[in-house]
Amino acid sequence: MRVFITAGAAGIGRAYARAFLNMGAQVAVTDIDREALIAFRAEYPKALAIEANVTDEPAIAGAVNQAAEAFRGLDVVCANAGTGGPAGPLETLDVAEWRACIDVNLTGAFLTAKYAIPHLRAGENPLLLFTSSSAGLFGYPGRGPYNAAKWALTGMTKTLAMELGQDGIRVNAIAPGAVEGDRMERVLAAEATAHNRPVEEMRQQYVKGVSMRAWVTAEDIAATALFLASPAARRISGQVIPVDGHTETLAP
Ligand SMILES: NC(=O)c1ccc[n+]([C@@H]2O[C@H](COP(=O)([O-])OP(=O)(O)OC[C@H]3O[C@@H](n4cnc5c(N)ncnc54)[C@H](O)[C@@H]3O)[C@@H](O)[C@H]2O)c1
Repeated sequence: MRVFITAGAAGIGRAYARAFLNMGAQVAVTDIDREALIAFRAEYPKALAIEANVTDEPAIAGAVNQAAEAFRGLDVVCANAGTGGPAGPLETLDVAEWRACIDVNLTGAFLTAKYAIPHLRAGENPLLLFTSSSAGLFGYPGRGPYNAAKWALTGMTKTLAMELGQDGIRVNAIAPGAVEGDRMERVLAAEATAHNRPVEEMRQQYVKGVSMRAWVTAEDIAATALFLASPAARRISGQVIPVDGHTETLAP
């Protein structure tokens, strides 16, 4: 299996890379964080690690093509990069912050898909996988741009599944709940400031909104990606699959 992952040097993308490498796949990751890429290369010398920003069209096109050339094709493309964007009531947000958030979460996914699709056409049981979020399933007060971008990914998943189904390409999204790790700590800190509430109160609020009263791990998300990439999921397309312990609400 030949796998390309954006934002793969840390977080969920890195868990994807580890899981696919462990099952013997060839893996290429891109990231913008040079130090994280160096650490990734040291840990996974067999993988390709390419510096590329998903919002930079020539860079992401070049990275996709470099991986496809190295592996003689691609079977799985994880358009995973996303940033949390600004926190606060929509009317207070700056348009530059709005655009930056939409650019990474939505336009970055579009650009990754655009350059991956020609390679996936020749792939085996090909899968294009987006990383959505619980924010793509519910309203999310105080996180308007991120919320809008992740809902938009649902539209792109459905449309691309229809455009590409006849070519045998499956298009799905995973919607992770809050994932244990650095990023959620940053999100909690930003939201605590925006809502003027203590961080621990925000954390409890998130956990209370989940039926299983727990967060997920990046490994939980990666396990679902492995399943979706496997022959067992060969007729699953156009779906947004929550991996979230059943999120009930994101209302603060
Ligand atoms: N962490 C969570 O709780 C959570 C929950 C739901 C959905 N998600 C989604 O999962 C995806 C991955 O999130 P994460 O938590 O692993 O992220 P993260 O913040 O841990 O970042 C992972 C990597 O993305 C890289 N990155 C950031 N912007 C990039 C860009 N423009 N181009 C290329 N690489 C870039 C970073 O350098 C970093 O190495 C995102 O789409 C995010 O919205 C995360």
